[in-house]
Amino acid sequence: MAYATLLYELDADGIAVVTINRPDKLNALNATVFAELAEVVHHVAGDDAVRGVIITGAGAKAFVAGADIAELATVGVRDGEELSRRGSVVFLAIEHLRKPVIAAVNGFALGGGCELAMACHLRLATPNAKFGQPEVKLGLIPGYGGTVRLPRLIGRGRALELLLCGNPINADEAFRLGLVNRIVPSEQLLDEARTLLRTIGQQGPSAVHTVLETVAATLDMDMEAALNHESMQFGRQCGTDDKQEGTAAFLAKRPAVFPGR
Ligand code: COA
Repeated sequence: MAYATLLYELDADGIAVVTINRPDKLNALNATVFAELAEVVHHVAGDDAVRGVIITGAGAKAFVAGADIAELATVGVRDGEELSRRGSVVFLAIEHLRKPVIAAVNGFALGGGCELAMACHLRLATPNAKFGQPEVKLGLIPGYGGTVRLPRLIGRGRALELLLCGNPINADEAFRLGLVNRIVPSEQLLDEARTLLRTIGQQGPSAVHTVLETVAATLDMDMEAALNHESMQFGRQCGTDDKQEGTAAFLAKRPAVFPGR
């Protein structure tokens, strides 16, 4: 598949690597990147050959250094709101994918880059990665979920410090705060992401989809509604062939061969 601002590769294990490819602008997210990301997300959602996705940035310096400030400079009230909504829809589609998505953060993940990483299900980072929401330095606020996902991910107080001061944090600090799952040497970043996706790929496929769906759905519910939703999903999962096979295989002391439904 050919894109102007993305590279797309699907390997034999069903792992799709999406690379934001504007290295001369530190992979800043402009309208074309968002439109192409929307396309690629739609594609991977519908392609049964894709079992997991890695999102990364081209070059050694940046994952994504933010929304394209040249575009932001000219927007007003109406088109600003529209721009934010359009981006949020794309990131929500990533978050709601029923296939695991890993952000392989290979450098700056600022503004929209940090927001893109947070919309992914898991985050791996290289030691030189830098995370932050510097929008206040531009007289702006995050527009692609930064004020929403960051407090949910690392807690309100810590999120507000990043959102209000705008200063970036390094990979160690991001790990300490729970913003990244693991720090990985740059030369191993994609391999480690692939290994993680292969590990997930060995589990019951319909259970993996249901975990992703259930976490996405229940995060914003109150405890009682969330537990109720989980029970409903648990019941549905009990009706799957994957559950039949997984439990039967355990009891027979043999490896499971999941039918994937
Ligand atoms: N939007 C548009 N262009 C961007 C960009 C962004 N978010 N981030 C970097 N670029 C461009 C620079 O303008 C520069 O382009 P040029 O070579 O045509 O002048 C190029 O990418 C390289 O960036 P540069 O600033 O020269 O690299 P650096 O190593 O000195 O600094 C950063 C790196 C990430 C610290 C710096 O680019 C930066 O602060 N970027 C903006 C981060 C930000 O505020 N993001 C949130 C936006 S809402």
